[in-house]
Amino acid sequence: MVKTIEWAEGRVRILDQCRLPLEITYIECTDYRMVADCIKNMNIRGAPAIGIAAAMGTALGAAELNAKNFDEFMNALQPVFDTLLSTRPTAVNIKWALDRIKNLLNSKRTEPVDALKQLLIDEAINILNEDIEVNKAIGRWGAKLIKDGDRILTHCNAGSLATGGYGTATAPMFIANEEGKKIHVFVDETRPLLQGARLTTWELMQAGIPVTLITDNSAGALMKRGEIDLVIVGTDRTTRNGDVANKIGTYTVAVLCKEHGIPFYVAAPLSSIDFSLPSGDMIPIEERAPEEVTIVFGGCRIAPEGVGVRNMAFDVTPAKYVTAIITEKGVFRPEDIKNLMEETPDLDAIRL
Ligand code: MRU
Repeated sequence: MVKTIEWAEGRVRILDQCRLPLEITYIECTDYRMVADCIKNMNIRGAPAIGIAAAMGTALGAAELNAKNFDEFMNALQPVFDTLLSTRPTAVNIKWALDRIKNLLNSKRTEPVDALKQLLIDEAINILNEDIEVNKAIGRWGAKLIKDGDRILTHCNAGSLATGGYGTATAPMFIANEEGKKIHVFVDETRPLLQGARLTTWELMQAGIPVTLITDNSAGALMKRGEIDLVIVGTDRTTRNGDVANKIGTYTVAVLCKEHGIPFYVAAPLSSIDFSLPSGDMIPIEERAPEEVTIVFGGCRIAPEGVGVRNMAFDVTPAKYVTAIITEKGVFRPEDIKNLMEETPDLDAIRL
């Protein structure tokens, strides 16, 4: 699997996902503003991946500072936090990563500034490495829900590219495949930016998993014909009550699943669960530029100049449509997800 992001000798190396699958090129970020631009422009995207990028961006931002003590250091770091946090509003992972970093710094306030700078680099690398392990755990839990011969539908890209590695929604597929189960994955192309068509198909094909690309409008027809056994998607932010924000179109797929009696699973690392929000109605939904809808392939206009466009990047699926949420701690009904706020050792379980 290609690396989505890495810390490379004082730079942040980001695989440019805007160019995939046609070109494998990297952007070498030398300062935090470049990292912020990469997140905003979606050269790197996917909730866990942008959390990792924010952590690495903070380490780059800190390296520039000339602070003499802890308070000066934290004050000077604030614009770095603000810039990174303002890039994309829906995924909670950026806030999660920055809060983790702030808590760590606050616990080390007596350390010299140079040690704090190194601590930020180490922590960003820890966040990346932990994410890969978390995804493997999600994969092990999720693979138990997949039977030999299953035909799985996914939406957008919650794959390796959207994370430190392995992916969230794709991890159960990778593990089921490694276990020798014969699976087939249907991938929604995911308008307007085609993360499904460009990224998910590419990743799954590299892993040797049989893939069929479909237009976003096809899911219902395939379900009606009995050609889909289960759905697994990722999430940008899941709230305490089990509501799930994910790529626009996910809600439609979930409602279709209910109609056809198909399980709708969400792969959600704890880093993407926002226990501070009681419901998905409070999740900020990113709206992006109209040109993403009216112009394709960077130049071909497909709608009249001046047409009104609403380009919501995400939607919220109410918990009642979610069969279960697959976390690194086990598989939970959406109404039980709040129990994960207090981590207890006996949580590992499938509780359906
Ligand atoms: O706009 P994107 O491409 O960042 O949206 C990504 C998704 O919606 C993913 O499903 C989500 O971030 C989960 S990634 C493991």
